[in-house]
Amino acid sequence: MVMEQDIFQKIDAHLQNHRMDAWAGTFRDYLGMVIKQPALVQRSHARLYNMIKAAGLKVDDEGKEHYAFFENDLFGIDEPLARVVEYFKAAAMGSDVGRRILLLYGPPSSGKSQLVILLKRGLEACTQTDTGAVYAIADCPQHEEPLNLLPHALRWDFQQETGIQVEGELCPLCALHVREQYEGDIYRVPVKRIFFSEKERMGIGTFVPSDPKSQDISELVGSIDLSTVGDYGSESDPRAYRFDGELNVSNRGLMEFIEMLKADERFLYVLLTLSQEKNIKTGRFPLIYADECVISHTNETEFNEFLGNKKSEALHDRMIMVRIPYNLQVSQEERIYHKLLQQTTLEGVHMAPHTLRVAAIFAVLSRLEEPKISGLTLLKKLKLYDGEDVEGFRQKDVKQIREQTEREGMDGISPRFVINRISTSLIKPDMHCINPIDVLRALKDGVEQQSQFKKIDRERYTNLIADARREYDEIARTDVQKAFFVSFEKEALTLLDNYLDNVEAYLDHIKLPDPITGEDIPPNEKLLRSIEEKVQVPEHGKESFRNEIFRKVAMANRRGEQFDYTTHEKLKEAIEKQLFEERRDTIKLTITSRSPDTEPLRKLNEVIETLVTREGYCPECANELLKYVSSLLAREK
Ligand SMILES: Nc1ncnc2c1ncn2[C@@H]1O[C@H](COP(=O)(O)OP(=O)(O)OP(=O)(O)O)[C@@H](O)[C@H]1O
Ligand SMILES: [Mg+2]
Ligand SMILES: [Zn+2]
Ligand SMILES: [Zn+2]
Repeated sequence: MVMEQDIFQKIDAHLQNHRMDAWAGTFRDYLGMVIKQPALVQRSHARLYNMIKAAGLKVDDEGKEHYAFFENDLFGIDEPLARVVEYFKAAAMGSDVGRRILLLYGPPSSGKSQLVILLKRGLEACTQTDTGAVYAIADCPQHEEPLNLLPHALRWDFQQETGIQVEGELCPLCALHVREQYEGDIYRVPVKRIFFSEKERMGIGTFVPSDPKSQDISELVGSIDLSTVGDYGSESDPRAYRFDGELNVSNRGLMEFIEMLKADERFLYVLLTLSQEKNIKTGRFPLIYADECVISHTNETEFNEFLGNKKSEALHDRMIMVRIPYNLQVSQEERIYHKLLQQTTLEGVHMAPHTLRVAAIFAVLSRLEEPKISGLTLLKKLKLYDGEDVEGFRQKDVKQIREQTEREGMDGISPRFVINRISTSLIKPDMHCINPIDVLRALKDGVEQQSQFKKIDRERYTNLIADARREYDEIARTDVQKAFFVSFEKEALTLLDNYLDNVEAYLDHIKLPDPITGEDIPPNEKLLRSIEEKVQVPEHGKESFRNEIFRKVAMANRRGEQFDYTTHEKLKEAIEKQLFEERRDTIKLTITSRSPDTEPLRKLNEVIETLVTREGYCPECANELLKYVSSLLAREK
């Protein structure tokens, strides 16, 4: 089998790499290597920054940075991500920023943990590569940088020769080994290549606060091993110390501090000393040097309490705080759901088209602040944010609209909530297909049941679900209407050509040949106005609308492109509405008739067939869709 072959090959390659990579030698060997390849020596922040940079960076038209490192996992939050990367970059370049702790805060399920996980897994993988290789003193409990062996007196010369600045101090245990075991001969100290692995507690660690009062600081900084104190005769003998705190483990790499502000202040001060002075404070030894990056996260309530607390003021300016809000783009929100649903079993259940989109519309609506510009509705804002131009507003307005918000993205419905609700509807017995209405219903139930929501939010969310549903009504209607055409695109194009010919004749004051009689006739003003009225172009505005369309056509021609009506939002809508109106009565009659005769029934089956083959419906949701749209049409006058 092909699959099997594949995995064997991959494992072979993996083993091969690892055999090659298991390097061990002495400090002398290592020094030789470093002189040839100074880039091998990287401090923790630089290592992280280089890793992110190596994955690729795009700068968009507005000068905003998009890092490919996150692009398959975190969607729609490129700006906060760029700020995180800025921190690493500044720290890597030796700025004082590196001496502060990175604190991520934001609403629940905004991707903070995911971000840190990506960095951790990324670092682990990075240390497996040639350019990311990490070497350490072989018997050091903190796997420290071997260059820490260099005597201070020689470091300046070394820097002149190699450009590498050595700032670390040997840990107490290595210092003792050098003195006693190697009798001062640093050349002999064994060095080996190491691979970061959180599981093996190597270079990556996680600290989770538990009960603030009883949690022992040793979890962070290690502790004395009382059982061996007797062997060494003193509590301050490094051999009697266990360097197994999370900070010891994470030396050279990254430590995640979960819910940092829940921890007792003692822990925070240890962290500050670490980032500020690069020391782990134990009270046992004068100094344990460590070089690692600490990333912590917290929720907003605790964050605000912390900011308001005078007692912790000293801590405030020693942290770099980055806000991680929710994504505000519907299309990106859909991607989040796709990703999260891959982790649950959707097996055997069909998901109707637009299901995730409609859920995403609701979720994003719940996160948006009420627009402050007249004429801009919440829904228009949602579309603008997702890259669509809307009546009265263009993409260039987005910047200003954003500037008028206060804390947009910090409130509202989380992706986790939506996914939980979708999963709940998925596990119902006999569920074969889930559609947008099922999901909106599940969301509504969820909003009503959740006691965590305040009453005022609950009402707001319920209204937004109704808004999302109205959006869906339009989508559903369009899908059905399109399915009534054998070839919708073709008919739309024919109508467009017809419209453009008439516009041209109108603007040039010329006549057009009648397609049937061939005689010259004036442009069909009735058709032109009928189309334009579909998108509220007033009589006095028709001249400029036609001119605009014509300019666009001319522009496309000049560029050698085909003028595509779908790129002109308004014209697209007008053409579609015109086509639908021409067929409106047939459509309505066919799908609302209670006992269809053979002809409507044949057409209905054809429409279902089209929905299935062309639009991704299954027979079940195609039928549901027709029922739904027929109830919509029946309500219309
Ligand atoms: N913008 C996003 N792009 C992709 N996935 C996201 C995004 N936001 C959240 N998620 C996904 O939602 C889930 C929850 O996110 P995560 O656990 O990282 O949130 P968090 O910010 O740590 O929340 P909490 O404050 O509750 O710990 C994760 O599976 C994450 O991948
Ligand atoms: Mg989290
Ligand atoms: Zn050491
Ligand atoms: Zn279906």
